[in-house]
Amino acid sequence: MPVLEPFSIECTSHSEEQTHRLGMRLGALLPRHAVVTLQGPLGAGKTSFARGVGAGWGAEQPLRSPTFTLVQEHHRRQDDATLYHVDLYRVENENDLASLGLGEILEDEHSVCVIEWPERAAGLIPHDAIRVKFEPVSDTRRQLTLSTQDAQTWQVLLAFRKSAFGV
Ligand SMILES: Nc1ncnc2c1ncn2[C@@H]1O[C@H](COP(=O)(O)OP(=O)(O)OP(=O)(O)O)[C@@H](O)[C@H]1O
Ligand SMILES: [Mg+2]
Repeated sequence: MPVLEPFSIECTSHSEEQTHRLGMRLGALLPRHAVVTLQGPLGAGKTSFARGVGAGWGAEQPLRSPTFTLVQEHHRRQDDATLYHVDLYRVENENDLASLGLGEILEDEHSVCVIEWPERAAGLIPHDAIRVKFEPVSDTRRQLTLSTQDAQTWQVLLAFRKSAFGV
């Protein structure tokens, strides 16, 4: 199989608020069954972005940093869709992963799923996921790269770019 060059968008965030706003822009555009993975080191801004995604998507309750619950379910008023906020930081092995039911969550066509530490479940992440990589550049600057390997999902990222940056 040929190695596909992913479609990608790079941007810089200068503050937690800006990261949150970028998340909101993306969250407002997510179609059903979308998967967003957030990859980066501790404190990179994954949860800040996830909170923005939840707000933009329309979650009734704010997304929080998970403590013991690795999967948090959110709902919104306008339809019966669910947003799953998944944090795999504490997942150590296949058993942990199986007990979370991530496979079933990803099959739920009415849901969107936001996953922190996706590298803990690399084999389960679908081909059409939106992958967001966070690279800390300084105390307050983060380099974000949003990418996908799926042409249809790339349209969502183009709409995101238009919405966030006007281009
Ligand atoms: N540009 C920025 N974007 C996001 N967070 C920033 C930025 N600049 C500074 N910060 C700080 O970095 C921290 C990011 O925390 P956050 O919980 O979002 O990270 P995380 O990647 O989810 O970490 P963890 O892996 O521990 O869950 C916050 O304390 C925030 O104030
Ligand atoms: Mg986090």
